Parts: sequence; structure tokens; C-alpha cells
Amino acid sequence: MFKVEAIVREDKYEEVKAALNEINVYGITVSQVMGCGIQKGYESHVRGTEVDINMLPKIKFEIVVSTKDWAEKTMDVISKTANTGNHGDGKIFVTELYEAVRIRTGQRGLEAIH
Ligand SMILES: Nc1ncnc2c1ncn2[C@@H]1O[C@H](COP(=O)(O)OP(=O)(O)OP(=O)(O)O)[C@@H](O)[C@H]1O
Ligand SMILES: [Mg+2]
Repeated sequence: MFKVEAIVREDKYEEVKAALNEINVYGITVSQVMGCGIQKGYESHVRGTEVDINMLPKIKFEIVVSTKDWAEKTMDVISKTANTGNHGDGKIFVTELYEAVRIRTGQRGLEAIH
């Protein structure tokens, strides 16, 4: 099992959600988050100001999938839909997932996510 965590621009939320829906992922968690990358949150037109750090609102998607192939597919779909070619487009982090539990039934692992 793998967890794909993607931080994207707020205005890409609908597009990414629709694209994930098309590849039939088993579940999605979405959060509104604040963050910054290498530019410390400054858009290019205000870069160079003296303030220390600036967090920008972003959307975080979390998707747990069963296989590496699904993780690759999910990453691919997100990076294509969320890309504008500008700084701040976001990042995708993928981790191996130790365990999953469906609380209603107590099922674990793949049985919990399928
Ligand atoms: N190393 C990191 N650790 C945790 N979160 C990060 C990291 N880098 C980026 N993020 C998250 O991703 C969001 C978008 O990052 P961003 O796209 O600006 O990355 P970047 O490395 O600065 O690339 P770019 O040059 O395209 O802007 C940030 O607001 C933050 O929430
Ligand atoms: Mg950046």
C-alpha cells in the first residue's frame, strides 16, 4: 500500500478531483492547508520583500492505493492536471503505508481499502 499526498493550488481543486474520480481511486481525503516551498511563499511579483516567510493557502489531497502501479498512475494524473508551469504548482509525496483499518469491520490491509 502507498499513500500519495499532493499539495496543489486552490484553484486546481475541482480539476484534480474530477481527474481522480475518473481513474476510480478508492477514497480521497482533502484538506485546506497553508504552506510554502523554496520561494518561501512569495509569488514572483512580490519576491524580494524583506519579510521572513509567507504561507500561501493550498489544497492537500491524500489518496491511499494498493499497488505501485496505482501510485504511479495517481501521481501522473495529479501532476498533469495541477501543472501550470509556474512556481507554486505544488508537490507530490509518496510513502509506503504500514497499515490500514476499516473501522466498521476491523478489516486490515488491502481488504480495508478495496
Ligand atoms: N519540502 C517540503 N516539505 C513539505 N511541504 C512542502 C515542501 N515543498 C513544498 N511543500 C508544500 O507544497 C506547496 C507548494 O510548493 P511549491 O510548489 O511552491 O514548491 P517549490 O519547491 O517552491 O517549487 P516551485 O519552484 O515550483 O514553486 C507548499 O506551499 C507546501 O505546502
Ligand atoms: Mg515555490
